[in-house]
Amino acid sequence: MKKNQNVREFAQLGDPVLRLQAMPVDELKSSHVVDTILDMQAALLNSSGVGLAAPQIFESLCIIIIASRPSQRYPLAPEMDPIVMINPSFKVLSQMTKKDWEGCLSIPGIRALVPRYEKIQITFIDQQGNTQQLIAEDFVARVFQHEYDHLDGLVYLDRVENNKDIISESEFQKLMALKYS
Ligand code: NI
Repeated sequence: MKKNQNVREFAQLGDPVLRLQAMPVDELKSSHVVDTILDMQAALLNSSGVGLAAPQIFESLCIIIIASRPSQRYPLAPEMDPIVMINPSFKVLSQMTKKDWEGCLSIPGIRALVPRYEKIQITFIDQQGNTQQLIAEDFVARVFQHEYDHLDGLVYLDRVENNKDIISESEFQKLMALKYS
């Protein structure tokens, strides 16, 4: 780990930073942006998360990282190299939505069923400044939409259709153990 990679605490639900509209990045090479990305990468590595948005480490900037990998938190997550996305946006490719379980490092202890678009086209700027496009489906599309919401000051609970779709982490773990045993 590089010296300037600080593992920061995650902003917790109730912290105003999670409710701000994040600022677009205009200086890709500024030390603020570079350090934010390094800190996000370090924070993700030290967590069991599959994605992270800059506001979660108290930086109100339009930067997310998608890092799907199977874990106890997300047993069915596909393995992929983490992707840093700067100023991301997306287009819905299919109006089909699906409800599935989500959690958030900023909202520990609970899970909820959240409807998300199943297929989207993502546009973002990479760390070299190139515009990239990516078609994402299912789990990866879900993670992206979750992280993208953080940039709009939204959390996944805002998308829950019914309070009965919210359960505790311990009950979620029991459910997963039953489903995949
Ligand atoms: Ni989150």
